[in-house]
Amino acid sequence: MTDPAVPVIEIRDLHKSFGSLEVLKGVNLIARKGQVVSLIGSSGSGKSTLLRCANLLENSQHGEVLFQNKPVRWKGTGPNRRPGDAKQVIRIRTNLSMVFQQFNLWSHMTILENVMEAPLSVLKRPRDQVEAIARTLLDKVGIGAKCDAYPSQLSGGQQQRAAIARALAMEPVALLFDEPTSALDPELEQEVVRVIKDLAREGRTMVIVTHDMRLAADVSSHVVFLHDGLIAEEGPPSAIFGNPQTDRLRGFLSHTGDMAHVG
Ligand SMILES: Nc1ncnc2c1ncn2[C@@H]1O[C@H](COP(=O)(O)OP(=O)(O)OP(=O)(O)O)[C@@H](O)[C@H]1O
Ligand SMILES: [Mg+2]
Repeated sequence: MTDPAVPVIEIRDLHKSFGSLEVLKGVNLIARKGQVVSLIGSSGSGKSTLLRCANLLENSQHGEVLFQNKPVRWKGTGPNRRPGDAKQVIRIRTNLSMVFQQFNLWSHMTILENVMEAPLSVLKRPRDQVEAIARTLLDKVGIGAKCDAYPSQLSGGQQQRAAIARALAMEPVALLFDEPTSALDPELEQEVVRVIKDLAREGRTMVIVTHDMRLAADVSSHVVFLHDGLIAEEGPPSAIFGNPQTDRLRGFLSHTGDMAHVG
């Protein structure tokens, strides 16, 4: 075997509860440089929570989160545990750009302004440089002509592509997607799938929560099936979709539609 690429995100034995509800019960996850890891599983299995714990949008109570081999430094323990180093939190968040199901664009800003906002305010880059990069990224996702439009003037697929351009503008080490295509009609979904596939081909490191098994099968190097806060099965897409080992995964896949065409 060749040397495995360096881990960008690593999660070890992570436990996360909301009050008395234990949502993650000891989860391990690793996304190496250039890998695309998909998280699949039924509603409520903990996919979004795991993604949000990875970039510290959620606290976790036990276990480790590592970014580029460096463990998050915590203060306190158990229910009182919090990240202890504000600079580290900012470094991790800016390097793990997140794309949400509902796009989350600023409605009072144009598409170009949306893409420029964080590089200007967080990275403090010069405006002309940021604008040039933003225009290039909007061209790349196929909506260069929409720079001066407001989000409400765009289709869902166009808004999501703007959100992806905005995430890329932070020059992140990895991208985290939470159901990027779930809010879209099928034909708009395909526009976004195409952009995600291009990013995978470029060798971007990505973690993708998705209900779209075809997308997971097409772009992933590794697929993780979460069930009830634990990883029930994981492996390359050929194994997960072509030769599932557990009844739970077989049951899940039999309810997800057109898997007969995948693999
Ligand atoms: N802020 C919160 N407060 C309390 N419970 C929460 C909170 N966020 C999530 N949960 C609960 O945690 C569990 C896992 O939620 P999560 O959103 O991670 O699931 P998911 O796998 O992403 O589901 P879906 O496919 O529906 O998006 C669910 O039971 C949910 O109700
Ligand atoms: Mg979710």
